[in-house]
Amino acid sequence: MSSPNGQRLRRRVWLDTDMGFDDLAAVLMLQHAANVEIAGMSLCAGNAPLPVVRRSAALAAACFGWAFPITAGAGAALNGSSVTAQSVLGEDAMRSAGLGLGDVVKTELAEIADAEFPLAELAESAESVEVLALGPLTNLARWMQAPASRQRIASITWMGGSAGPGNHTAAAEFNAFVDPEAAQIVIAEAAKVGIPFKMVGLDACRQVRVRAADAANLRAIGTQKAALLADLLLGYVRIPDPSGQSPMSVYDPTAAALWLQPELTTWRPACVDVELVGHHTRGMTVCEFRVPRKAQANAEVAGAVDEAAVRAMVLAALAAASS
Ligand code: RIB
Ligand code: CA
Repeated sequence: MSSPNGQRLRRRVWLDTDMGFDDLAAVLMLQHAANVEIAGMSLCAGNAPLPVVRRSAALAAACFGWAFPITAGAGAALNGSSVTAQSVLGEDAMRSAGLGLGDVVKTELAEIADAEFPLAELAESAESVEVLALGPLTNLARWMQAPASRQRIASITWMGGSAGPGNHTAAAEFNAFVDPEAAQIVIAEAAKVGIPFKMVGLDACRQVRVRAADAANLRAIGTQKAALLADLLLGYVRIPDPSGQSPMSVYDPTAAALWLQPELTTWRPACVDVELVGHHTRGMTVCEFRVPRKAQANAEVAGAVDEAAVRAMVLAALAAASS
């Protein structure tokens, strides 16, 4: 994003997150990116219940010096259900090989206020924001239905859905599965009012992997924050394979990288519909790429991803946050 004289313009981003480790890594990427202002962060239940997400966000803010406003939003999906990934990610959704955020942060935690509706920080903002959504879209569905907040949203990039198999179920990616009604509302409302919607699905994120060796390199920096992030990264890598021998895909950091540098993937126009009733397929994002012949496009879907470039961005941000 450059101005006519070639100067890179500052981009304002609003983060919506369910604060697992991959969310944390994504936030650190934006915190350490040039020409990016984090306008604020809203929290939603997802990886863990909202009280746990709230505590993780408060600890991370204290640990990494986040000065932007953080508000707590939806504690359950629009239909009232509460599905979490704690069985996979651990009670705090921050499975670690050693240190946790609470071991490093000894200061008093900042109070995280409940979000107003519509979101005051958006409704009253003089400038628009780009939204990077890293969890279920419950908060966004509410704001998209309120003109006062919706009018400040310039674009939406979502780590969610999949143009291929799911992860939480065979058909559905976790963020979509937790609140498929919200995902359908956001995609439909964005198309209705002309807000660009980009989906970075599992099929894109699965191309970017981290390994135990990346954690070892981080640890070698030698600071306490490096040890913390190395333990969290190693705990994350060990999720699919406790031995830590297998690589592990990074989801939210891939979406953050593609928000920062969209040229690192091929964006394909598609009509994305979210399955709401299928017994085996609820939460599936059905991507029709034969647009406009078969349907009107309502999204751009990430395709082939430059793994080396995205990996470098993720690991550089973790190293920068370790200083
Ligand atoms: O399916 C991966 C997504 O679900 C990521 O955003 C992860 O943090 C969880 O929210
Ligand atoms: Ca997430």
